[in-house]
Amino acid sequence: MQRAAALVRRGCCPRTLGPWGRSQSSAAAEASAVLKVRPERSRRERILTLESMNPQVKAVEYAVRGPIVLKAGEIELELQRGIKKPFTEVIRANIGDAHAMGQQPITFLRQVMALCTYPNLLDSPSFPEDAKKRARRILQACGGNSLGSYSASQGVNCIREDVAAYITRRDGGVPADPDNIYLTTGASDGISTILKILVSGGGKSRTGVMIPIPQYPLYSAVISELDAIQVNYYLDEDNCWALNVNELRRAVRQAKEHCNPKVLCIINPGNPTGLCFTSLGVYQDNVYSPDCKFHSFKKVLYEMGPEYSSNVELASFHSTSKGYMGECGYRGGYMEVINLHPEIKGQLVKLLSVRLCPPVSGQAAMDIVVNPPVPGEESFEQFSREKESVLGNLAKKAKLTEDLFNQVPGIHCNPLQGAMYAFPRIFIPTKAMEAAQAHKMAPDMFYCMKLLEETGICVVPGSGFGQREGTYHFRMTILPPVEKLKTVLQKVKDFHIKFLEKYA
Ligand SMILES: Cc1ncc(COP(=O)(O)O)c(C=O)c1O
Repeated sequence: MQRAAALVRRGCCPRTLGPWGRSQSSAAAEASAVLKVRPERSRRERILTLESMNPQVKAVEYAVRGPIVLKAGEIELELQRGIKKPFTEVIRANIGDAHAMGQQPITFLRQVMALCTYPNLLDSPSFPEDAKKRARRILQACGGNSLGSYSASQGVNCIREDVAAYITRRDGGVPADPDNIYLTTGASDGISTILKILVSGGGKSRTGVMIPIPQYPLYSAVISELDAIQVNYYLDEDNCWALNVNELRRAVRQAKEHCNPKVLCIINPGNPTGLCFTSLGVYQDNVYSPDCKFHSFKKVLYEMGPEYSSNVELASFHSTSKGYMGECGYRGGYMEVINLHPEIKGQLVKLLSVRLCPPVSGQAAMDIVVNPPVPGEESFEQFSREKESVLGNLAKKAKLTEDLFNQVPGIHCNPLQGAMYAFPRIFIPTKAMEAAQAHKMAPDMFYCMKLLEETGICVVPGSGFGQREGTYHFRMTILPPVEKLKTVLQKVKDFHIKFLEKYA
């Protein structure tokens, strides 16, 4: 497309002589005359407008990169231009992007990635043997021994085998089959692919997708895009955001009146809530509370016996983006499916093959996550040190955040048992709600905008994740380094107190 546009441009506006030997200026003069004579041709109505575009795409919202983040970008530009603000930098606590917040990559992962990317380094004495071993194995499984070739649509075979072995270890021996593993472009791609396959029907038989509220907005965005029916089930804020089975039953019962609820999405540990119930998701390494342990849904199904383990159709997802590695940019991920009909698995591969394959570099990164150094290997000690340091720090920051927020009048924060976010509840006075209405903003959006404008701290309003009516929250990552996080929390505290005074 770009190339074609460049050729057209070169054809009509040559640097010296035009296509018919006239000078550039005479060609340009003629072009502008044409514009004057035939204005209706140059200004014909656009085919693609907000009215004519796909309404499902227009309905998509993604708060994590929404208006507040655009405003943060504008403020950053203003700061760069020397415009004075009550702060000197914007702190982006809106998104779970660990490296962007200064977290250092895990050395072993990057060593293997470097070797895979530039195999000449395999001769270098600077790299440990265990990293070289991993890299050789990955490269041998790639077309032409290069990370630059397409892989099978389902992903590189030996990486799927490593994922299956990892899941089997994680679930205490419950077997995983490489044939059930699909490597994906981050977890997002897997989630949207599986939802795509699930949605069908019209009217009352249209697929209903049950999602937790609050939720990670990828789910609501994909539901909008697919024109499926969003079925909310509310997590219990008064009980550390627990999932209540009666609430699930209520949601299914009511949904059945207008759709066909056939998909249940569970995010565990929870984003944005930090809730950790005993089950599965991209934050499976991010569990901080000593009373909590990660159990996968698949393992639980096996413990419940064959009636469940042989029947429940389950898809679960993992990613290189979170955990201790935080490698969001590689876009690595996997999906494991169980009990899917073989014909549906065929359809899944067909759908994935339309996009050829997930990035092979992301697949390699996923391999290192599921196949890290083991005791006795050269890199084991350094790897363990780095991993524990990241997770230990996150645990410390989870507690620090909870404690500090709970000292502020008008803020309540549940314990952050896992993931990497706080989702505190905030009290917004009536006068502030009126001011928000005057600005045509939701009250929590107004609060977060003011927080951004006065402190430079960028967080996401709770309305972007869903919340019970009449309650207000914001989501903030706990990713800034400890000292910076302390400053951030202190600034939020000072801002909140001033906000309450101003709108009292
Ligand atoms: C619950 C949940 N699922 C999926 C994702 C997307 O992860 P990825 O970067 O692997 O696409 C995120 C990212 O924040 C998330 O919190």
